[in-house]
Amino acid sequence: MSINVIVGGQWGDEGKGKIVDLLSKNVNVVARYQGGSNAGHTVYKDDKKIVLHQIPTGILRKNNVCILGKGMVVDPDGIVEEIECLNNNNIDYNNRIIIDYYAHIVTPLHKLIDQLNESKSGGKIGTTCKGIGPTYQDKYQRIGIRAIDLLDIDLLKTKLEQRIDMALTKNEINSDDLLNINLNQYYKSCKKIKNFINDSFPILFNQSNPNILIEGAQGTLLDIDHGTFPYVTSSNCSSGGISTGLGIPGNKLDNIVGIFKAYVTRVGGGPFPTELFDDNGKKLQSIGKELGATTGRVRRCGWFDLVAAKYSALINGLTGIALTKLDILDSFETIHVCTHYDYKGKKISEMSKVLNFLDEIKPVYKSFKGWNCSIEKCNSFEELPLEAKEYIKYLSSAINVPIEIVSIGPKRHQILKIQ
Ligand code: GDP
Ligand code: IMO
Ligand code: MG
Repeated sequence: MSINVIVGGQWGDEGKGKIVDLLSKNVNVVARYQGGSNAGHTVYKDDKKIVLHQIPTGILRKNNVCILGKGMVVDPDGIVEEIECLNNNNIDYNNRIIIDYYAHIVTPLHKLIDQLNESKSGGKIGTTCKGIGPTYQDKYQRIGIRAIDLLDIDLLKTKLEQRIDMALTKNEINSDDLLNINLNQYYKSCKKIKNFINDSFPILFNQSNPNILIEGAQGTLLDIDHGTFPYVTSSNCSSGGISTGLGIPGNKLDNIVGIFKAYVTRVGGGPFPTELFDDNGKKLQSIGKELGATTGRVRRCGWFDLVAAKYSALINGLTGIALTKLDILDSFETIHVCTHYDYKGKKISEMSKVLNFLDEIKPVYKSFKGWNCSIEKCNSFEELPLEAKEYIKYLSSAINVPIEIVSIGPKRHQILKIQ
């Protein structure tokens, strides 16, 4: 029996979907433990691009059951759209999707509140407006609606109507705002997903399901407790969230693989120490096609940040790393890596010391000669140009975690394993 984990090491969009697709080939269960449709995980099946938001990426492989765990906030309208996408791509999902009874449910009201909060704050956080924060808020206020409530549609309607009344009384919304939401459509979606709602416990703790892969969403620096608060999402995206979100305790986890891009991106507001505002930043954005998979927003780009990566390795207990999008650096003469920060003249190597002052630090860089050729056709680590191998070895030794997988293109086969 093995339980392996994929987590985002940076600010999300590291290529988790692609690596989950690779590692889900031989597992029995793929499970998500947090987040909701704010995630956008891109995978390729027969050269066709598919973006999954809530259903674990493992759904592309027939051999596993996909669990949406208790710690998630599940949007029924979004699930129906994803099911349509699976149908359109001939992906069989029968008896393969379980939404845990106790996962909380996003409603159109929560999405509306998210949008209104964003517009009132002038888009300060830049959320995905998928209702994530307001749904988690209701969960922790102990007034949330859970998947199990969808099994009795009349009860669901009563609960949602009461919540809408409360939102009106507390001026979270006004009655005109309600014209923008479609409750009939929502209740239809709730009925359509009823068959997926079940208890995930017997599957996660079934000894005859030997191999489980856990799929993180977002990234460690967006974690509500360990990230760049308040510019974070509303869940624990780092591996700590697994214990609560699925009920699988930390001492049952075998390998915890952190996914890192060979550079860094961030979408939405918040500090970003190595962000580039020059031609290099624009080049990373355009060659890397750095547009959000969920919202289509342009992703901010910068050089690899070792201070942040080391922090992420510790927070998650990483046992290995998958380095993605190395090919995007193919045409850079010089590649920079931030080795430490300068904060008011002091050398800072630990992120926790400056987590609240990241806007005030200056990144200090080490330079690497680029390889200046295409690596997309390389078939092994050994075939990579010397400069690319040096870059990988340096990152691995500085983070002190082995880089076990290198991704050199978006397609399934564009992957190198390092022994
Ligand atoms: P996720 O949210 O972590 O799953 O990542 P996204 O799917 O949001 O963003 C990653 C993007 O990079 C997707 O468009 C992937 O198809 C693409 N991608 C993943 N790995 C590679 C790679 O090694 N090279 C290139 N060029 N693209 C990649
Ligand atoms: P995947 O799983 C990148 C960001 C949003 C915003 C902040 C809060 O594809 O890596 P939210 O809607 O969660 O309340 O927004 O978090 N964000 C992501 N950024 N990738 C994601 O998911 C993200 N999910 C949320 O842009 O800054
Ligand atoms: Mg994404």
